[in-house]
Amino acid sequence: MKSRLKMFSYREFALGMALSMLLFACAGPDESGLPDSFIRLSVDQSEPRRFLQYYFGGYVAPQAADPFEAGLLHDFSGRFYLDLDVFAQHRPSISEQLRDADGNRRIEWEELEAFIDRSYNQARGAPLSLDAFADSAGFAPDSAWMQVALHGVMTTAQRRIYVREEAVRTALRSAAEGDGRILYPGGTIFFGEHYLDDALVETTVMRKRADGFWDFFVYGEDGALARGTSTPPRALKSPVQCVGCHFGNKVFEPGKSFPAMAPPGPHGPRQVYVPDEFRDAEVVLRFDEHRRRADTVLGLYGTLFVSKLRARQRAGTLDPADAALLEALNL
Ligand code: HEC
Repeated sequence: MKSRLKMFSYREFALGMALSMLLFACAGPDESGLPDSFIRLSVDQSEPRRFLQYYFGGYVAPQAADPFEAGLLHDFSGRFYLDLDVFAQHRPSISEQLRDADGNRRIEWEELEAFIDRSYNQARGAPLSLDAFADSAGFAPDSAWMQVALHGVMTTAQRRIYVREEAVRTALRSAAEGDGRILYPGGTIFFGEHYLDDALVETTVMRKRADGFWDFFVYGEDGALARGTSTPPRALKSPVQCVGCHFGNKVFEPGKSFPAMAPPGPHGPRQVYVPDEFRDAEVVLRFDEHRRRADTVLGLYGTLFVSKLRARQRAGTLDPADAALLEALNL
């Protein structure tokens, strides 16, 4: 009898616990104790923390840094809050542009994207013209910069992508010495020129931030900083429509089929224009670079660079430093 009573009260206790947990889960944590400066961010993304870290990290002055560590964002069991006071300390003029338009003490994802679309370029201090950017990067289409020409999925324009060879070497060295991931040094810049009928119509840029994420910028036909691309098949807003492909794991042509030729897509050819000797299946297999995209970089720069070095090695024209790199990579 005694034990039955005990059991009964235990069951009651367990039921009570379950009920209150259920209530708690429905109502959510009590927000009344939070400072007035906290505003909830509604994030309907598969990796909310990563997206918030990326976007708000770009607003932590003076350099990009972790917004959670900076006290800008708070994560209460997967509910995210922005501290408007801390935001105002970091970026007084920019933070004023973030409006809770419908006054519901929440920033919905659409409101957040609209704010980022308006303010990201300014927050990141993007050079106002492509010429200024190229100057500050020491960019000239010469042998210090690796060039890859291709037709891909981002645009029907032909793309010419440039990155410093030295950045690719550093990334490959880090792959050889570390866990095999191709990670570019901070400050690395990719320029992606878009050509229609041999005329330069826009340029996309990725620049690696101090916190490991990349900035995305676009310059228009006139060379001025723009809010997005405008070539077919669809205009893309920077950075909010760049991260979808670059952060995701969907594979795209021509990277997907490489070293084989890719079939044409609905909007025209999809092809990397490289000599056949750079279609080195062993290197492609070794890095599986497009699928792995360790650094949210989608092109095949490590693969093509190493393939070029191996072609030089076969021709007997490889210099000793690059021979050492191939050896470190066991290739
Ligand atoms: C539809 C998917 C998609 C979207 C959206 C997209 N990209 Fe890309 N991007 C790619 C792919 C795939 C590559 C690899 C090279 C190629 O195939 O063109 C690439 C390459 C790049 C590169 C060269 C470095 C690299 O990762 O290989 C830059 C720079 C770039 N994109 C900028 C942007 C910018 C800026 C935006 C937004 C305005 C953007 N991208 C949106 C798919 C996308």
